[in-house]
Amino acid sequence: MDIHTEYDPDDAETFDEKTRLALGSTALHKPKKKASYESNADVQRWLKEQALEDGGVKPEFNPTFLASLRDAPWIVSSLVQFYDQDLITDVLHVVKSGKEATVYCCAADSSTGIDYLAAKVYRPRMFRSLKNDAIYRQSRMQYDRDGRVVRGGGRHHSTGKSSERGRAARVNSWIEYEFQTQSLLYDNGADVPKPVAQIGNAVLMEYIGDVGQPALTLREVTLERAEAQPLFECILRNVELSLAHNRIHGDLSEYNILYWQGEVTMIDFAQAVDPRYNPDIFSLLLRDIERVCSYFADYGVAADAQELANEIWLRFQGVL
Ligand SMILES: Nc1ncnc2c1ncn2[C@@H]1O[C@H](COP(=O)(O)OP(=O)(O)OP(=O)(O)O)[C@@H](O)[C@H]1O
Ligand SMILES: [Mg+2]
Repeated sequence: MDIHTEYDPDDAETFDEKTRLALGSTALHKPKKKASYESNADVQRWLKEQALEDGGVKPEFNPTFLASLRDAPWIVSSLVQFYDQDLITDVLHVVKSGKEATVYCCAADSSTGIDYLAAKVYRPRMFRSLKNDAIYRQSRMQYDRDGRVVRGGGRHHSTGKSSERGRAARVNSWIEYEFQTQSLLYDNGADVPKPVAQIGNAVLMEYIGDVGQPALTLREVTLERAEAQPLFECILRNVELSLAHNRIHGDLSEYNILYWQGEVTMIDFAQAVDPRYNPDIFSLLLRDIERVCSYFADYGVAADAQELANEIWLRFQGVL
């Protein structure tokens, strides 16, 4: 494809496009269908670099993509610190709105050495009601009203009208725990997106996929029959590796496993639990494994979830 004839600067209709054309080969050699996202990200990077080179002050964080969105102020306030810390330069598009959070594809700051990052931003309503809280409280490290860790999980927080601060701290501790779990698993070689930062209600991590084309969940793809068995085994290895580092995903299924270029990545550690603090943990491990087995059964992978869970559990306890 002769991209130079396709993007003749004289034909550029907007200032943005002309600016992008001035950016050089990186921008020019991107395929046309990605141009709108690419140009936006590159323009933002370029403008900011120019401003800083000229001794100017970094422009205010003002992602153009968000302008039309109703909850723009919430998203901006959730992500501005990542911008201030030179981790992201722009918000490019929504990846997906999940149950409790929306994930955005962001342009990464050039200092990070990568192009894109995924930002998971929890909704404000998360700070009003804590779904599932009772189920998982027991197995989480708890934070008291002053944010100090309370180990062991037996202690309850005060509730009622006066506990707004405590509730917000608890949601924050949830998100911190999600980030901490993801970091622990990543550092120990599990297939999870590389965690980058967590501030307040937002988690920043490696983006899986291409800009404008995020990785799909297992739920959304049709696997080749031949790849099913190795992917199944890979997920089971990840389950066992997680357990070896005292984590059970707690919500593992085809909805929380991404598929990209033949490889799987586990995501969404919002419900992860520590087996050391929960006597009923085996049922969560079994449920995770049952869901994975049932997904892969459709591809002819034969596995007995109960047996697998028992084996993994006994190995974890050092019995096998
Ligand atoms: N690192 C990532 N790279 C690409 N896409 C991602 C990434 N993380 C999440 N996504 C996309 O965003 C969707 C929602 O993410 P996630 O499952 O973490 O949130 P959720 O379902 O809202 O979970 P929660 O229960 O924590 O609210 C995923 O299904 C996936 O499509
Ligand atoms: Mg999810």
